[in-house]
Amino acid sequence: MSAAPLLDVRGVTKRFGGLLANDDVSFTVSEGEIVSIIGPNGAGKSTLFNCVTGFSPPNAGHVLYGGRDITRLAADRICKLGIARTFQIVQVITDMTVLENVMTGAFLRSVRNGAAHEKAEEVLRFAGLHEKRDAAATSLTIEAKKRLEVSMALATQPRLLMLDESMAGLNPVELRGMIDLLRRVRANGVTLVIVEHVMEAVMELSDRVIVINSGKKIVEGPPKEVVMNPQVIQAYLGDRYRARG
Ligand SMILES: Nc1ncnc2c1ncn2[C@@H]1O[C@H](COP(=O)(O)OP(=O)(O)OP(=O)(O)O)[C@@H](O)[C@H]1O
Ligand SMILES: [Mg+2]
Repeated sequence: MSAAPLLDVRGVTKRFGGLLANDDVSFTVSEGEIVSIIGPNGAGKSTLFNCVTGFSPPNAGHVLYGGRDITRLAADRICKLGIARTFQIVQVITDMTVLENVMTGAFLRSVRNGAAHEKAEEVLRFAGLHEKRDAAATSLTIEAKKRLEVSMALATQPRLLMLDESMAGLNPVELRGMIDLLRRVRANGVTLVIVEHVMEAVMELSDRVIVINSGKKIVEGPPKEVVMNPQVIQAYLGDRYRARG
């Protein structure tokens, strides 16, 4: 079938002093997949995102994207190659409107104001935020801010979108909306890697789940198998999630 995986993480290791935040982590993501990364607080999930996206490169190991080694590239270069991400703590530009925030993403591909504006409008319509385009980014609810962050990332026209806890703090209705949005993103041909604690979303969206604990990958597989795995239950899920049906 297809040749190289879209993303190929090989033996990524990241140290903070004596702490091994990522310990020889390897996994691949194929084009069109939705892969979730789960694990307890402090397991090293956000650190792994930073290693892949050039925000804080690994001490050892390699990250290949479409077969190309991107391990030492700067974050903006990696974004230009087609990997966009969001942050666990929502990062919007506070003194700008919703539209202007999304335009900052669109400027990655277009230096023209008009083209960036058009792209931002299109993304806002897609993300269900168009009505709020002239609102100050700071005035948004948590849910709308999460949508805005996804919109800013989408405006860079990624091939791979990496989301760090986009569902955190959402009520059940908002959660449905975000799951629907991510499904539509994938339907448009974007590959997704999501770090998420909201297991309902993980179960519904993921083709594959990777579990990390204390910096190490411990289990990988289809969501229904992973949640039944005793190691995963012991390290992470405990009583907080029980497979239904
Ligand atoms: N810049 C840093 N300097 C020192 N230690 C760090 C730094 N960033 C992360 N760590 C540590 O690395 C470990 C992994 O942190 P990370 O934020 O990647 O965990 P996480 O899996 O994303 O957790 P959570 O689910 O709470 O977001 C933690 O022990 C954390 O304290
Ligand atoms: Mg994190």
